[in-house]
Amino acid sequence: MADAVPLLDLKAQFEGIRDEVTRAVLSVLESQRFIFGPEVEALEKEVAAYCGVPRAVGVSSGTDALLVTLMALGVGPGDEVATSPFTFFATAGSIHRLGARPVFVDIRPDTFNLDPEKLEASLTEKTRAVIAVHLFGQCAEIDRIREIADPRGIPVVEDAAQALGASWKGRKAGALGRAGCFSFFPSKNLGGLGDGGMVVSTDPDLAERVRLLRHHGQVDAYRHAYVGGNFRLDAIQAAALRVKLARLDAWSAARAEHAAWYTREIRREGLEEFLTPPAVLPGAGHVFNQFTLRAKRRDALKEHLKARGIGHAVYYPLPLHLQPCFGYLGYKEGDFPVSEKAAAEVISLPVYPELTPSQMERVLEALKDFYKAS
Ligand SMILES: Cc1ncc(COP(=O)(O)O)c(C=O)c1O
Repeated sequence: MADAVPLLDLKAQFEGIRDEVTRAVLSVLESQRFIFGPEVEALEKEVAAYCGVPRAVGVSSGTDALLVTLMALGVGPGDEVATSPFTFFATAGSIHRLGARPVFVDIRPDTFNLDPEKLEASLTEKTRAVIAVHLFGQCAEIDRIREIADPRGIPVVEDAAQALGASWKGRKAGALGRAGCFSFFPSKNLGGLGDGGMVVSTDPDLAERVRLLRHHGQVDAYRHAYVGGNFRLDAIQAAALRVKLARLDAWSAARAEHAAWYTREIRREGLEEFLTPPAVLPGAGHVFNQFTLRAKRRDALKEHLKARGIGHAVYYPLPLHLQPCFGYLGYKEGDFPVSEKAAAEVISLPVYPELTPSQMERVLEALKDFYKAS
């Protein structure tokens, strides 16, 4: 379809960085150092400096970042970890995999992030951590969450998989809790050539445990202080990610400009009756990994966009408390009404940095045609 607008266009991104990425990957091939080594170490230093934290540890994915962080915090059977049910599966999956129990807390309707007002009631003497998810690229209200968690000695982990570069009251995602977990999945604002992730921490002891755990808890050659796993970040990924990290802020700024344009145009066209653009809280530096709105007649809109070749996606259609695999937790429909309503109403539209004005006009036209003609 000639006029199609994809949800994400990584080929357009690659056009601008082809030579640099190719050179970086080739240099790893020449060195034949694929595990650990200078590229991984350099990326760790650069991400730590970028986030304003002392330590960063490269890992194999955002999922493993969460898993290894919870392992390093000692989360295990009998423990509870409080988090949002409106997030990617990995947030709660990593809690379950350690034998702990995900305890869900409903979200705010405007930001889709965990509602701090509802957190306290879900904490018990078994709560071992809180995972605050910075969904779609906007930080959860971490200071209010910490006001509740800190006095109880409960560490707050940031699931910042979608939020590298986001900020809250001037501080970067990852520097706001005990540890921050990032994903370099290709569709993230900083995406690799495959899977990858990073744990950053303000706590050097925790970062050191994560570093050991990502390599089977090995302290010296074939001496293991802990039972960890193989959660390493590949050198090829690190080399490519370093090229992209230098552009991250410019890309995030372009995403935010596109989001602001859509929001303005939706208002100007009188579409607010049908579409609710995302709220950005005062103090939040939103990096728009996704531009996610609430839409009236969402499912019919999806069909319309599909017919027009306009990329879109629903993140996420089924909240985690209603996932078949979490049936044993005993939650039922109606337990987290704000999340359930969001799952029924949200739609994400193209917001990637390389979008052109005419592509954005086409997205807007499609929205106008749908709501104004019907
Ligand atoms: C909120 C959230 N948490 C965790 C993850 C897991 O990251 P990965 O896909 O790199 O394992 C993702 C991304 O996929 C995510 O969006």
